Amino acid sequence: MSYYKVFGLEKEPFSTSPDPEFFYNSTGHETALKRLEIAIRLRKGLSIIFGDVGTGKTTLLRTLLKVFKDENDFIFHLILDPSYKSEFQFLFSLVRMFGIMPEFKSTIDFKEAMEKYLFQKGVEEDKTIVLLIDEGQKINMENLEVLRTLLNYETNEYKLLQLVIMAQVELLPRIKKIRNFMDRISLKYTINPLGEAETKEMIEFRLKAAGNHYQNNLFTDEAIKLIYQQTQGHPRKISMLCHDALETIVMRDKPRVDAEIINSLVHQEAGV
Ligand SMILES: Nc1ncnc2c1ncn2[C@@H]1O[C@H](COP(=O)(O)OP(=O)(O)OP(=O)(O)O)[C@@H](O)[C@H]1O
Ligand SMILES: [Mg+2]
Repeated sequence: MSYYKVFGLEKEPFSTSPDPEFFYNSTGHETALKRLEIAIRLRKGLSIIFGDVGTGKTTLLRTLLKVFKDENDFIFHLILDPSYKSEFQFLFSLVRMFGIMPEFKSTIDFKEAMEKYLFQKGVEEDKTIVLLIDEGQKINMENLEVLRTLLNYETNEYKLLQLVIMAQVELLPRIKKIRNFMDRISLKYTINPLGEAETKEMIEFRLKAAGNHYQNNLFTDEAIKLIYQQTQGHPRKISMLCHDALETIVMRDKPRVDAEIINSLVHQEAGV
């Protein structure tokens, strides 16, 4: 039997997969999501969301896709790993993804095919084309130049390609080196780790999302305080520690996670 069933839960509350169902709307995440939605609807062009490791960038992307899932005027494409080695490889993969492979296969032909497609969809059919790129810190200089070219395609009123990049902050010095790239960013936002009150809310939210409808205080307040101190509000770290804590109380046959449980896990991890 899975450990979480012991608590009457239907699902695993602290899995580390980027599942929108378990996405707690912290002030920072909600602001990022709303602003992204607006930038896309207004066809502003380039949006970049920065965030440290495990702060919820991938989950945010998946949640954004969910926001638009029933809207046929928006066409989304998602790149989870943009570590293409060359401009050719990147463009080749883009035209394939967009379903517009040209007869001749050179970078110029690819760019022309992209421009034609964006124009046809964006102007003649009035669709909004959105390219979402996760792990943006993996885009090399050559391919950042490709993206800059794509962002040049525009009408007098709007950009033809909406580009959303999620990245760790290492990307920043690289884009600063490319002339005009910074000026093209219409939305730049950084997701910060959660505060203490939000850490508590995130834990409670995820328990509820997993099917815990009865408030039976699975985590004491002291335990939550320690979780916050240990994780500094980083969502992935919070999830992992809570997961380990629940497993531990099942093994030790305890009713709830208290400070002692968290302390023992922290010491265990530190190899003490
Ligand atoms: N707002 C949130 N509410 C609830 N859980 C969250 C939230 N943000 C992140 N998480 C959880 O934290 C974990 C890491 O999230 P995610 O993979 O989205 O982070 P990331 O920023 O993409 O990490 P990386 O930098 O490693 O790519 C996941 O388990 C996710 O469910
Ligand atoms: Mg990620």
